[in-house]
Amino acid sequence: MPSSVVRIGLLGCGVVGQGFLRLLRERERLIRDSVGATLRVTRVAVRDPAKHRECDLTGIRVATDPLAVANAEDVDLLIELIGGESMLEPVRAALQRGISVVTANKHLLAVHGGELERLAADSKSTIRSEASAGGGIPVLQALEHGLRTEHFQFLVAILNGTTNYILSTMERDGRDFAEALQAAQSLGFAESDPTLDLSGADTAQKLAILVRRAFRMDVAYGSIPTEGIIGMELEDLRQADRFGYTVKLLGIALLNSEGLDLRVHPAFIPKRYLLAAVRDEFNGIYLRGEATGSMLFYGKGAGALPTAQAVLGDVIVAAREFVAGVRFLGAAEKHEPERRLPLDAVRTKYYLRLIVEDRPGVLAQVAACLGGTNVSVAQMFQAEGIRGEASITILTHEARDRDVREAVKGIAKLPAVRKTPRAVRIFDI
Ligand SMILES: NC(=O)c1ccc[n+]([C@@H]2O[C@H](COP(=O)([O-])OP(=O)(O)OC[C@H]3O[C@@H](n4cnc5c(N)ncnc54)[C@H](OP(=O)(O)O)[C@@H]3O)[C@@H](O)[C@H]2O)c1
Repeated sequence: MPSSVVRIGLLGCGVVGQGFLRLLRERERLIRDSVGATLRVTRVAVRDPAKHRECDLTGIRVATDPLAVANAEDVDLLIELIGGESMLEPVRAALQRGISVVTANKHLLAVHGGELERLAADSKSTIRSEASAGGGIPVLQALEHGLRTEHFQFLVAILNGTTNYILSTMERDGRDFAEALQAAQSLGFAESDPTLDLSGADTAQKLAILVRRAFRMDVAYGSIPTEGIIGMELEDLRQADRFGYTVKLLGIALLNSEGLDLRVHPAFIPKRYLLAAVRDEFNGIYLRGEATGSMLFYGKGAGALPTAQAVLGDVIVAAREFVAGVRFLGAAEKHEPERRLPLDAVRTKYYLRLIVEDRPGVLAQVAACLGGTNVSVAQMFQAEGIRGEASITILTHEARDRDVREAVKGIAKLPAVRKTPRAVRIFDI
């Protein structure tokens, strides 16, 4: 006899948790029609049960222990919206006893995704995490279902709304990095401690989650070479514009015959690219598949309702499975052995900006450093500065990443170089 009620245990009732409860109430009839049963939240775990919340928790047991909710007999489905490493234990506990989990926790998936998926497959449960990468954009469901068997050649993505907002604001309004960060914080797009966003670590976690689905490869996010946008100057964005580029923080996964080239860094991208039009707090995921060709997923990567909608999408699939007594995900997918192209061997173009003493012979010294590691110049622009300084902007031809970095180290040591050189990769494939 199929269940007419699916009982939900909800961990966390903050921004996303409250958004989820709102959608659950407002879309009750639609949800019942698509699941074939009513979804009822039976238990909630929060840090402070006495806190005022913008949602009605009448009839729900509100407590403080996430593990107790994960183990409760009156929970058929666990939704984890607390976040962080401490949720590993409750999520494991639910999966071990065959209870499917929906989570928005990127850290958990990026660090323990492989283990949790295997655990779920062994216990005939599932773990879904649409909201963990790309927020409200349903890219993981697309990869899991419609694109399940596609062979992807590359995935290039803007996955962090905070940094994208900062770069867009610098470019559009001519504000410097600190002012743009402040604007992002006052609009609620950036955390009070934005380190995870600015350092690129947030993008690397989301990239690892997407790569597991798109390339069936288990990648430790900490092993992805990662650079953030700290130190990006307004002048770099002006120079990008001069040469027909815009600057984005990219998560990159390129499959070639030598392996998967994975990296996170700010990049100059041509203005004609679709990703160049992904501005402000929006996210974009650009994929190229063997059969499908190019695709762009675009939308909001965060926010209460976009994220809650992604959670609800996963919950509906998991609840349908519960009602039907089946699971739509196959046995733990066989993953490809990890075959990576090291960053040193990646071939890429670079933008370099140098502040040097404005005197004869300096350009020749810079050229010697570049030539010494086989890096050739495609375009160069020199502007006279103040106090006897000159600013030199160089776009290189494609070269080995390690060779360019070596050349930049050499340039930085030249006595005529007044400031640490700026070096940003150009993504133009
Ligand atoms: N916000 C977004 O736009 C967004 C987007 C994508 C993904 N996510 C992910 O969604 C998850 C939730 O984010 P959020 O923005 O909703 O966070 P949040 O507003 O800070 O809410 C966290 C909730 O967890 C509860 N909580 C924290 N520690 C707890 C503990 N030790 N035991 C019991 N309850 C605890 C809090 O309780 P109290 O309410 O009592 O303090 C609160 O209800 C995170 O994994 C986040 O990365 C968020």
